[in-house]
Amino acid sequence: MASTTPSIAFLTLLTALLASAAAGDYVLYNSEVLMPGQNLTNRPHHLAMQKNCDLVLHHSGKPVWNSNTTISGSVIGTECYATLKQNGEFVVRRDVHYILWSSAKKTKKGKFALVLDTAGHLGIYGQRRWSSNNPKESTSPPATLPGQVLPTSEYILHSGRRLMLGRKLKYGEFELGLSRSCNLEINSTKSGKTLWQTNTKSASTCFVELESNGELMVKHGSQKLWSSNRKGSSGRYVAALRFDGRFAVYGPMLWSIGRDGTEWIAVNNFQPRPAVDWFEEKIIKWGMD
Ligand SMILES: *[C@@H]1O[C@H](CO)[C@@H](O)[C@H](O)[C@H]1NC(C)=O
Ligand SMILES: *[C@@H]1O[C@H](CO)[C@@H](O)[C@H](O)[C@H]1NC(C)=O
Ligand SMILES: *[C@@H]1O[C@H](CO)[C@@H](O)[C@H](O)[C@H]1NC(C)=O
Repeated sequence: MASTTPSIAFLTLLTALLASAAAGDYVLYNSEVLMPGQNLTNRPHHLAMQKNCDLVLHHSGKPVWNSNTTISGSVIGTECYATLKQNGEFVVRRDVHYILWSSAKKTKKGKFALVLDTAGHLGIYGQRRWSSNNPKESTSPPATLPGQVLPTSEYILHSGRRLMLGRKLKYGEFELGLSRSCNLEINSTKSGKTLWQTNTKSASTCFVELESNGELMVKHGSQKLWSSNRKGSSGRYVAALRFDGRFAVYGPMLWSIGRDGTEWIAVNNFQPRPAVDWFEEKIIKWGMD
């Protein structure tokens, strides 16, 4: 199987083993890859796996960070890809095993999510703390043709944020939101079916909240109507409506690239800082009161 000329055969094999992120996605899960020419996209922000093997983060169209892994010459880039490993490490690889760049922060084996958020920051969250228990509706993100972009909508709830009644997270055919009677539901707009629900009921003013310990709750004021009953250490978490129709909580944040003043930096061992915090800045006005 060892070969010095990987390219097409290698990529065919890789594509068969791993799912590519769909165009318009801004989350990459374990065992998904960003192939050369693909990118994560959130509004004007992109994380692009370029054909020359360089991984580049663009903020409002401007490159702000790159992995410095450009390969020049005639073999230009069919054999590079970026992927998120089961230990939470994000890597740019060449051929199957050769690592060109790594986020370096590793942890216990588990499920992770790499998220490009609405402010253009990139974060690795995990392990997975909780998931809704509905059967998976699909095993990989929807296939997209070159040039085709999925409609972009919010499908992530960040810790410290609320999803109010009337707001929904949407990914493809899936929608997650509260019914008028405070039942949290995942619906498929394709089948018209409710795939999962909390079976909660209340008069009014309920909301969904993701705590800074990863606990997901349906609340009415300070009263808990439902809880995921899964907690981790304090940090930044995300709850994602996934391509398979499940809702899952990942965190705390392990590693990130964000803006510190005018500089864009990669941060290991991320510790949430209270008050003035670049990550807090402008994230998600959406979904708040
Ligand atoms: C990101 O991918 C989309 C869809 O494949 C493509 O149209 C777009 O040009 C890409 N953007 C960048 C910055 O690579
Ligand atoms: C890439 O190279 C530039 C210029 O030498 C440097 O400032 C930057 O930190 C490097 N990025 C990484 C990810 O090593
Ligand atoms: C989910 O579907 C049910 C049945 O069609 C509907 O009554 C409910 O309002 C939907 N929930 C949300 C949050 O859209």
